[in-house]
Amino acid sequence: MTRIFSGVKPTGHLTLGNYLGAIRQWADVDQHRADALFCVVDLHALTVEHDPGRVRRLSRQAATLLLASGLDPERCTVFVQSHVDEHARLSYLLECVASDGEMRRMIQYKEKSAVEQARGGSVRLSLLTYPVLMAADILAYGAGEVPVGDDQTQHVELTRDLAVRFNQRYGHTFAVPRATRPEVAARVMDLQDPASKMGKSHESGAGIIYLLDEPDVVRKKIMRAVTDSGSEVGYDRAARPGVSNLLEILAACEGGDPEGLSGAYASYGALKKDVADAVVELLRPVRERHQALVADSAYVGDVLRSGAERARGMARPTVDAAYRAMGLLPAG
Ligand code: TYM
Repeated sequence: MTRIFSGVKPTGHLTLGNYLGAIRQWADVDQHRADALFCVVDLHALTVEHDPGRVRRLSRQAATLLLASGLDPERCTVFVQSHVDEHARLSYLLECVASDGEMRRMIQYKEKSAVEQARGGSVRLSLLTYPVLMAADILAYGAGEVPVGDDQTQHVELTRDLAVRFNQRYGHTFAVPRATRPEVAARVMDLQDPASKMGKSHESGAGIIYLLDEPDVVRKKIMRAVTDSGSEVGYDRAARPGVSNLLEILAACEGGDPEGLSGAYASYGALKKDVADAVVELLRPVRERHQALVADSAYVGDVLRSGAERARGMARPTVDAAYRAMGLLPAG
């Protein structure tokens, strides 16, 4: 059976981008067709300036939202990265296989290190080595598929390179994974700045729909979304990014393709109203289940405890094999 691994980073409240680009596939498709693990990757949240209490709260919230989105602990493994030591153990080994130049070429490193520098802070070494930890997340489980949004493709490519290189140097140890992405909405854009990705850690939340936004907030954000000059509704991601983003969101919520949907609208106002209705309906059950789960916090704790135990059991043999393959002396 195919093994699937994917994760979400608790650096901010989860967004519609996270949901449409990744989490919905995990819940609707992936957990039903494969042996799947989904992880709140909290170690990754430490690579930038952060408040410890906030990381803890966001980790808990992200795990709760994964369950509220329909991940079923009877079908898949849901856990928190720092509860399984194998991620950090393997990351160090892979640092011995990766090169400094390779890390500096990563687009997200370039973007995020520029942000940290602009804030006057220093760039943490862990931000540079972040993709190695991500490779460890995937390779520790022998995952063959990694369902992610567009922005993670380069990191999964790097993971493939590291797996192949390790196997060539030290003998076959790792499965070589590939990224899979949703057909539409693999890159949901910010509603106020459709040239940028809708990202959970943007400064202003005006262009970002959070999964826990109240319905009237969702409506307001969508009705105020930036559209393009011209008044005719048409799909063209390069020339008309604002309207195209709304059409993609609608297509992702209701099915159909964005170009086909564009013909049904005579005005931006009518399109925005339908997008708002569709997103509110899409998120309603997630918000409701989230509320119920918050009231049952012992359940979430139990899921994470048994998820980590299961994950540990899967990762340990592979990581131990990597230790031996690289020449480390067994403890006895
Ligand atoms: P993160 O937390 O930024 O995002 C989680 C998932 O959501 C997708 N995503 C989007 N998809 C479409 N449109 C958007 N605007 C959008 N924003 C985010 C991301 O592509 C991702 O699939 N490095 C990863 C976390 C990670 C990971 C892993 C993922 C760590 N280890 C191992 C897979 C496998 C990240 O920062 O995702």
